[in-house]
Parts: sequence; C-alpha cells; structure tokens
Amino acid sequence: MEFQVLLLTLFLSTFVIFLLSFRRGRGRLPLGPWPWLPVIGHLHLLGPLVHQSLHRLSLRYGPFFSLYLGSVPCVVVSNPHYAKLFLQDNELAFSSRLESTAIKRLTYETSLAFSPYGPYWKFIKKLTFNELFGSRGTGRFSSLRVQEYDRLLTLIGVKARAGEAVNVTEELLKMTNTVISKMMIGESEEARDVIREVTKMFGEFNVADFVWVMKKLDVQGFGKRIEDLYQRFDSLVDRIITKREQARNKARGQGGGKHEGGERDFLDILLDIAADETSDVKINRVHMKGLVMDLFTAATDTLAVGIEWALVELINHPDLLKKARQEIDDVVGNQRLVEESDGPKLPFIQAVIKETFRLHPPVPLVVRRCTSESKIEDYVIPEDTVLMVNVWAMGRDPSLWESPMDFRPERFLKPMEENSSKGVLDVRGQHFQYLPFGTGRRMCSGLTLAMHEVPAVVAALIQCFDFQPVSPQGNKVAVVDTEERPGLTVPRAHELVCIPIARPICGPLHLV
Ligand code: HEM
Repeated sequence: MEFQVLLLTLFLSTFVIFLLSFRRGRGRLPLGPWPWLPVIGHLHLLGPLVHQSLHRLSLRYGPFFSLYLGSVPCVVVSNPHYAKLFLQDNELAFSSRLESTAIKRLTYETSLAFSPYGPYWKFIKKLTFNELFGSRGTGRFSSLRVQEYDRLLTLIGVKARAGEAVNVTEELLKMTNTVISKMMIGESEEARDVIREVTKMFGEFNVADFVWVMKKLDVQGFGKRIEDLYQRFDSLVDRIITKREQARNKARGQGGGKHEGGERDFLDILLDIAADETSDVKINRVHMKGLVMDLFTAATDTLAVGIEWALVELINHPDLLKKARQEIDDVVGNQRLVEESDGPKLPFIQAVIKETFRLHPPVPLVVRRCTSESKIEDYVIPEDTVLMVNVWAMGRDPSLWESPMDFRPERFLKPMEENSSKGVLDVRGQHFQYLPFGTGRRMCSGLTLAMHEVPAVVAALIQCFDFQPVSPQGNKVAVVDTEERPGLTVPRAHELVCIPIARPICGPLHLV
C-alpha cells in the first residue's frame, strides 16, 4: 500500500512540475536549467556551496533564471539590473524571508532576521536599532568591545612570546561571540559551538523543506540535529533569563532598579517591555529566546568570518599589508593601539575591508520570499517564489569589476566614474553590484557595528603582529588557501593557524 502511495505521489509531482514548466518563459517565470527531475526539481544541480552552484548555472542560463527547489519555484539574480528591480523597485513584495524548518524551530518563529515583514518585525527592528546597533547603541557598548579586543591581543601576545601557534579562527569566534553575548545578556556564555552549528545548519538545504514526500522521512537526519541543537540552546538561554529575572527581583526587593553587576543590556530592555502592559507589541519569554538566538547567530560568525578573510588576504599580499601598516603608522603611530574611532582616518584599511567583502562576502546570498504576485519586466513572479540574489557572483563578475579575481583594495579608493560627482562605492546597499549587507528595509541591522568592529580588529592585529601561517601538520606555509565551507555565512574551509610575531610597538602593555 505504501509503495502505491509513493508511486502515486511521484506521478502527481511529475505532472505538476510538467504543468509548471509550461508556465516558464516570457509571461511567466524566466527560463532555467533543464532537466528538472520529478519530486526534487533542480535540487540535484546544487552542491553544498549553493552560491557557487548558482553562479555556475548563471554562466549558462544568464543573470536571471528560474529553478525549482523540489516543488518550490525560485528565481536567481546575479546582476545589478535585476537586483535593483527586485530589491528596490519591487521591495515590498520581496521583504519577507524563506523560513526553513531549522530556522522556524531554532528561532522560535520570533526572529528579527526571519520574521515576515509586519508590525512585530518593525517593532523589533526599531528597538534593536535604537538600543544596540545604531550609532547610539554601538557607541554605548564601545568600552566593552575594547576590553575584548585587548583580551584577544593579549592572548596572541602571550603566544608570540612563547613562539607558539594560535588558532586565529577559534580566537576570533570567541571574541565576536563574547562581544555580542555581553551586549545582549551582560555576560559571556559558552554558546560558540551551538551558534556555529546553527549558522551552518541555516545555510544547508534540507530536502524535506522543499520535497513534501520527504517531510516525514528525514533521510538527511536534519530533524534530529535540529532537535539536539534546540535542546542545547534552549536550556542555556532559559538559564540565563531565569538568572536575570531573579537578580532583578532581588534588586527590586532591595529598592534598587538595576540587577547586580549593572550595565543595562538588551535582555533588561526586553524584560522591561515584557513587564509593560501598555506596550503595543507584547514580548514574552519565547520572543526573548528567539531574539537572543537570532542576534547571536547574526553577529558571531559574520564578523569573525569577515575579519579572518581580510587577514588572510593581507597575509597573502605582503605589499598590501605593508601599505596598510604604513597608513596605521602614519595616522596612529606606534605609541598607542589603533581604535575604532580611527576608522574614518584610515581609508586604505577601509578599502581592504570593502574589497574583502566583494571577494568574500560573509553572507553570499540575499534570500527573500515573494509575498504577492509581481510583474518584473515581461515576467510574472508568483507568490511564495523564493528570490536569491547572488552577491558572491556579482562580486566576481568581469563585466562589473576589472580583474575581479585580483585582490585590489585600490578599486574602492577611486570615484565610481571618472570625473563624476558620485563618490566611492560604499557598503550601504545603494550600489546594486555590491551588496555585502543587502539593501532596503531588510538590510543588515548590524552594518554600523560591523563597520566599526571589522576594520578596528584587522588594523589592531596587523599593527601588533606578523602572522606566520602553519599547516594542520604544523609546517610553515607561505600562502593561506582560500577554499570555502558551506553555511549561511561562508567561512574558510580550514581553520587559520599562525605563529604570531610581535612587532616593535611601544604602546600596548601586552607586548612590552
Ligand atoms: C560583516 C558582517 C556582516 C555581514 C556581511 C552581514 C550581512 C547581512 C546580510 C547580507 C543580510 C541580509 C540583508 C537583506 O536581506 O537585504 C543581513 C541581515 C541581518 N543582519 Fe547582518 N551582517 C553582518 C553582521 C551583522 C551583525 C554584527 C549583526 C548584529 C546582530 C547583524 C544582524 C543582522 C540582522 C538582524 C539581519 C536581518 C535584518 C532584517 O531582516 O530586517 N548582522 N546581514
């Protein structure tokens, strides 16, 4: 009986996809790869590095094509013309996201990054901007970040004195995770492993999300992994919230406002809103957990990945490293550490970071979901179509960039057009060939924080140290590989391990 049901299902899905294929082409979805297969659609054409698979397909089928992820229609865009048409000219219809089973479960269906465009999203977006990630929030927590930068440099300094190797990948993750932990919950929690797993899982294709006959079967073991991660994270964050509630109650009992240990962090703000009966949007414990997960994942891997790619490109380009250091020496000197506030005075360092985000965008695909049927040129995009804008592919397109595979920060120092009043390319989503932080209403909330933290950490690292990379076997190597690993972010495939060599700078105590 089960076999008959399976056969019938296969037959029906083949028929549905067959019918759908007639709807493609002018007047409907754009054309796309052939063949699609019954049930799985075009899933067989996608490897684990989805952005690379889509890039290869776009070389064959053009900058705007469609495909089926199982039975879910999807359009893939890899040029600025269509990116603008979708993300700016038809922004409202493409302001929601695709929610996979992993995302729904692990963000408690209450996340900022993934919740549908609507009143809850608006409320939280404004709140996080005002309290955490806008200029005010970023400034309020700057001393906390300085402490963590210093801790990282001190640790590397100790390794340098001992002539020992340091796992830079791991230390950067620890640092970015501690920063967001302290901003959110006032303490640093051992959440790194869970967070990296979650980020990896958010970027993987769970066939069961697209092929409904697979939903119950869980052939990839996704369901079990999601549940394991959920349990680990849930108990961790539950413990944190309970501890904070107790601390607040105790402080209240003693007539004080703040909990012990003091600075008002995001969790305090959420607990205040939860207690406020007049608040327009009601926040409960589940919302809090979802938001903590959401912002932990958004701010841990992305920043660590961005810093690491920039460092790797500088290690691989000694001439650029020298130039970047010269700028630091000229502007900051060698009596003090470079600081976040030096950023605007270090245009070459800024250009290094922008060039890193072009060649290695930490988030390679901007993914949105269509919420109402939309006409894009001669095509009609049905509701619930998934839109993927391949930021990674646009960064490597030779028709958009001269010698795109070369790492050349200078391209971000020149005005965009000769003799034009247009300035240099920036990261704020105004130039559609370059969207490392996305664009429009759903643009990255952490942009300001990222553009403070990434240049400052990269500059401080190269100000204080030379880095001798070593292979997993411990042998010195001249060039660091640039292979990628799958996930929602794109980290390097292998961990960066280096022997640090302290530079003769007098300021920072840890190097004396
Ligand atoms: C180098 C670092 C980062 C990069 C490259 C990056 C990139 C992105 C991209 C491409 C998006 C999707 C934008 C779109 O759909 O148009 C996004 C969304 C988001 N990012 Fe980031 N991000 C970074 C760091 C951060 C940090 C530090 C945070 C802070 C917690 C953060 C929080 C978010 C949130 C909350 C969203 C969802 C916004 C929404 O849906 O309204 N990101 N990010």
